[in-house]
Amino acid sequence: MESLIFEKADRIGIVRINRPKALNALNRQVIDELESLLDVLEGDETLSVLIIGSDEHFAAGADIRSMVRMNPAEAKTFSFSSTLDRIANLDIPTIAAMEGFALGGGMELALACDFRIASKTAKMGLPEINLAIMPGAGGTVRTPRLVGAARAKELILLGETIDAVRAEQIGLINKVVEPNLLMEAAMEWAQKLCQKAPIALKTAKESIGGGLNCATISEAIKLESERWADLFHTADQKEGMMAFIEKRVPIYKGK
Ligand code: HXC
Repeated sequence: MESLIFEKADRIGIVRINRPKALNALNRQVIDELESLLDVLEGDETLSVLIIGSDEHFAAGADIRSMVRMNPAEAKTFSFSSTLDRIANLDIPTIAAMEGFALGGGMELALACDFRIASKTAKMGLPEINLAIMPGAGGTVRTPRLVGAARAKELILLGETIDAVRAEQIGLINKVVEPNLLMEAAMEWAQKLCQKAPIALKTAKESIGGGLNCATISEAIKLESERWADLFHTADQKEGMMAFIEKRVPIYKGK
């Protein structure tokens, strides 16, 4: 891998985009390498959390130089929405650790994660409208689900960049931290998530995602009830509750 750096610290995977000269803009190579990495990560049962970050800038968007002469068919092939869906659909929790610019496709990458933690100095937005296009990797779909349609339109139709404090105010990100504490904060959340029962995490994630996609609230509640009851098949549910009763820390096995 040239455009991505991957390391593993115990059960936590950290992937960093590595195209500093183009502010980590996402080109075909980055996406292909991400796909190959996902092929490995999706089957890795020793991984409990994935952090996506980069040094200096998260990603300043899809690579404009690659896109400038594309026709519609090429643009469709270039769109990396299916790659970001693979991230969104990972069984394990994912955290975007954002600093510098997180724009366009870079912001969409962060939106595909379960959590977004940003450095106070981060700048983010969906500026595609300024190039006479629009977000094409989940931005028009995930943004309104997070911040509501009016705020999403503000971001997507005005195409202005906002700072991390504003992003947290509108619910676009989960947390703002001092720049030197970004990775520490992401690791802290990752370590907390590592303590939870993996099947319960996966099921809760599916229930939230599935619930948002249901046409009616009653349909979503019905699915939630089924998933909730299914968790009583797991050894971890017995362990979690026994540990409470016996006043000890649970030891989960992911079963
Ligand atoms: C290609 C990019 C790039 C991008 C920056 N660079 N963003 N190259 N694609 N998205 C390159 C610049 O060309 C430049 O290379 C180098 O990175 C440094 O950038 P500068 O512009 O000189 O830096 P600065 O003045 O600090 O401005 C930073 C910036 C600006 C505000 C982030 O670079 C910018 O506006 N970038 C474009 C942001 C954007 O529109 N993103 C959305 C893209 S569309 P050289 O070689 O000149 O030094 C998109 C679609 C998603 O993401 C949907 C996909 C399916």
